[in-house]
Amino acid sequence: MHINPNLFIIARPPNQIVWNYKTHTQYELNIHYAKRLSELINNPNSFDADASMDAEFLASGIISTSKQTTPTWKWDELSKIFHIGTKDIPCEHEPQDIEEWSVHYLEHCNEILKKPAPDFLSEKCSPLDLIPLPPPLLTGSLEMPLAQSLISRKTCRSFTEDEICLSHASTLLYLSLGYLKEREQDADETIPETLRSRRSSPSGGGLNACDGFIYARRIKGLSPGIYRYHPDHHALSLARPLPAKPLGLLLAGQHFINTLPFGVFLTCRFDKLWWKYEHSRAYRMAYVETGHISQTFQLIATALGLKTWLTGAMADERIEDLLGLKNSPEQVLFFVGCGKGDAEAHCEELRALIKERSAQH
Ligand SMILES: Cc1cc2nc3c(=O)[nH]c(=O)nc-3n(C[C@H](O)[C@H](O)[C@H](O)COP(=O)(O)O)c2cc1C
Repeated sequence: MHINPNLFIIARPPNQIVWNYKTHTQYELNIHYAKRLSELINNPNSFDADASMDAEFLASGIISTSKQTTPTWKWDELSKIFHIGTKDIPCEHEPQDIEEWSVHYLEHCNEILKKPAPDFLSEKCSPLDLIPLPPPLLTGSLEMPLAQSLISRKTCRSFTEDEICLSHASTLLYLSLGYLKEREQDADETIPETLRSRRSSPSGGGLNACDGFIYARRIKGLSPGIYRYHPDHHALSLARPLPAKPLGLLLAGQHFINTLPFGVFLTCRFDKLWWKYEHSRAYRMAYVETGHISQTFQLIATALGLKTWLTGAMADERIEDLLGLKNSPEQVLFFVGCGKGDAEAHCEELRALIKERSAQH
């Protein structure tokens, strides 16, 4: 007999949940079942087909007569559970043609719209607290050809203390996170009003689940601080003063970034995703969406003649404290920033150290 290799066990006092993450099935075991399962894990051959508990374990696939193969997984157990657990979208009935798909999709959307919707506006903010941004530059200084911007984008780790101008920050925010006025005609009346906003990047389910908090350290015409960006108004509201501690302490000790004048903490509203996609696979999409926004930000910054940097290495809890997102369904996922610099991939200190070490050998 063989214990299913795709199980993990969660404590839910007074019981245990045995979760088969491959088939997305869960069983709640009381102390008696939990004890028997422990015995079977310890010695699968103690299985007794005539014992009712053992028969239930067999019927549920927790134990089986044949050994199941598992993929060669050259990563840790948690990533394996998440990856395998979110493979294959649960689908009760797979549409067999386009007509069937259309009916099915429309029904699905109508079902969702019957549910209470999450708050679609970014955090409520009095109009008096909104700080309007200047109009974005949509021509002129952004006229670098796309191919040139793609070729020139590079991760830089050496920034100067130079400030950036507010119109560049405004352009970066509008073109990466803003709801584009220019696309308002794209969404017709068949689309519910809350889902009509469009960005330059695609968005899972059109939900615009991602948002941004601005790290403004040196922007000409804007007081230093942490601001929430309101994509519907193309405006900011002050969230927190700029932390006294350097940015590097929020970003896994990467102190070469302390002089960065401007950045965006990209967040995701998980409640929006869950509203439309009630399965864990949508978590993958949160990062995919963030990646689109981050790349767009970097291409615009490059076209504006700025150097870019990005990271997913974060002291999440410190950032949650800073942004006021403790225990919130909105969570921070990524950081992207830009400023002026010498385009070096490494900071001066690391370059000097590398030089010194190589001179020693
Ligand atoms: C998802 C992701 C996370 C990254 N995290 C970091 C980071 O924490 N620190 C850093 O200095 N660079 C980070 N980078 C930048 C990469 O190191 C960089 O893209 C890579 O070395 C290639 O260089 P290039 O961007 O200049 O083409 C990250 C890039 C991506 C796509």
